Amino acid sequence: MALSGLFLIFFLLQHLTINFTSVFSPETFNELSHFMGTNFVVQAILQPVLAFGVFFHLAMGIRLELMNRKARPVKYAYSKPGANSSWVSRNMIITGITVLLFLALHFYDFWIPELKIKYVDGLMDDTTRYYPELLHKFENPVRVGLYVLSFVFLALHLLHGFQSAFQSMGARHKKYTPIIEKLGTAYAVLVPFGFIVIAIYHFVAH
Ligand code: HEM
Repeated sequence: MALSGLFLIFFLLQHLTINFTSVFSPETFNELSHFMGTNFVVQAILQPVLAFGVFFHLAMGIRLELMNRKARPVKYAYSKPGANSSWVSRNMIITGITVLLFLALHFYDFWIPELKIKYVDGLMDDTTRYYPELLHKFENPVRVGLYVLSFVFLALHLLHGFQSAFQSMGARHKKYTPIIEKLGTAYAVLVPFGFIVIAIYHFVAH
């Protein structure tokens, strides 16, 4: 679970970097999107690995949640959940499923049309289409609202997920753990915020 989580954390950073170029250089965004969309290694190796990573993280997350519930069928007679765990750590399944629902919408918006344009319409060589396609998606205020709300839940998921992944891997050390926690909080705030900036910028600016 931690390993697939760290892999997705790395994916999000590259995904943010590529999509953020759409805010300041449409040409760069088109070039990078075309490279990612047509490069053999990306398409034939990295994308299937990513798809497996997303699916594995989801399946493992649900399995661990069910095991935890089975392990503690009867709620503690007296429990002050806030006393020994944070809301985000107790509700990873809620924030995780919200991100999954976002991915379903996101695949419908971007990935599936991308596959159709490339492999059905055969527009593999059109290198200028990516930016106008992106702008078109962010004209709809409901979609922008749903994306922004999803990115807030993504931030909540990462707030616990980032540092917890390192803990699960046994990377606990009184010198490094505080650094990992600070890095995790910075990542959990800045990366989703970056995605929010992209969505709102394209909605407001165009
Ligand atoms: C404003 C924010 C975002 C934009 C503009 C954006 C844009 C895109 C685009 C254009 C594609 C199609 C790429 C292709 O297939 O060639 C894509 C695919 C994808 N996106 Fe996003 N994305 C955003 C946020 C996210 C977030 C937050 C996640 C994860 C939680 C995510 C996960 C994915 C995945 C897994 C794919 C399919 C794999 C891939 O093609 O890279 N995206 N996105």
